[in-house]
Amino acid sequence: MEALEAILSRRSIRRYTDQKISDELIQKMLQAAMSAPSAHNYQPWHFILIDDRKLLDQVPQFHPYAKMLKQAPLAIAVCGDLTLEKNIDYIIEDCSAASQNILLAAHALGLGAVWLGIHPRKERVDGLKKLLKTEEHILPVSLISIGYPAEQKSAEGRYNPDRVCLNVWGHKNLKKAN
Ligand SMILES: Cc1cc2nc3c(=O)[nH]c(=O)nc-3n(C[C@H](O)[C@H](O)[C@H](O)COP(=O)(O)O)c2cc1C
Repeated sequence: MEALEAILSRRSIRRYTDQKISDELIQKMLQAAMSAPSAHNYQPWHFILIDDRKLLDQVPQFHPYAKMLKQAPLAIAVCGDLTLEKNIDYIIEDCSAASQNILLAAHALGLGAVWLGIHPRKERVDGLKKLLKTEEHILPVSLISIGYPAEQKSAEGRYNPDRVCLNVWGHKNLKKAN
């Protein structure tokens, strides 16, 4: 799938078939994740693959919007490493860029995925750290739920010219996108 087509057609997929995801596709998503930009190119991330049904089923106990994990064959926890990047704001930005790359790669590979917010909700951060037995300097930023789609969603077309200015705030003399 062409990059722009993937960006424009990606949607959150929360229903999955029970088909497993191959190691080859997982590797491609991780390659995409680690190709993300990061401040100073520190790449301060770690990715925890979760395919243990017992672990996936426990996440909704501390995350109210994660029930799709009971169906998902895989989740990837995107975590920042506070020893590699001391500025937590950059950690969030870097891990968010990696998270978006995973979503786009999943979509381009024919999979469906949804971003589950972890940071800054303390109960979700603490719950995931405990579940995954992470070390103290590891901050879970997002959890990506992934599987083969059992629902189809079309692109929403969210382009909004009202949110774009030319050169200075409020100047709206812009061409409309088709
Ligand atoms: C930071 C962040 C946190 C999110 N957290 C959740 C979540 O906890 N559960 C969920 O089902 N979707 C979550 N989403 C997905 C959004 O609900 C979704 O992206 C939004 O409704 C737009 O729909 P789309 O992804 O299909 O374009 C999150 C998205 C972001 C960027």
